[in-house]
Amino acid sequence: MSHIVIIHGPNLNLLGQREPDVYGAATLAEINQRIQEVADSLDCSVDFFQSNSEGAIIDHLHAAQGRADGVVINPGAYTHYSIALRDAVAAIRLPVIEVHLSNIHARESFRSQSVIAPVALGQISGFGPVGYELALRALVTISR
Ligand code: DQA
Repeated sequence: MSHIVIIHGPNLNLLGQREPDVYGAATLAEINQRIQEVADSLDCSVDFFQSNSEGAIIDHLHAAQGRADGVVINPGAYTHYSIALRDAVAAIRLPVIEVHLSNIHARESFRSQSVIAPVALGQISGFGPVGYELALRALVTISR
């Protein structure tokens, strides 16, 4: 059975109340519940982690190595400038898929750059919470 680690970055704990016109009305708990349902249907296990702290996210990526088959991460604003996060993604020998709720390529120009994407397996952006489901399906398919 595949095990996938789901990581939500900064400010995503505020989903539901945070700019709902951009990020939708679903809370993080609701999004995680849907991911869990999809994981159950795919016969894979998942665990969830959210942090507003760059270092804590990096520690969690390191810890995923050896206990997971892949990582789905929404790095939030760290996407656009955290070389430390990029280096962590590159360092772990796991497939990592970057997910964004909004279409980062259709917003402010600073959001269209991702320093993570070049070291990720791929990027999914603009499909709202469905993006996590797509990423999970991709990782499970690849790791089988
Ligand atoms: C985001 C997009 C980022 O630019 C932003 O800083 C976020 C959320 C998204 O899911 O659309 O915090 O990663």
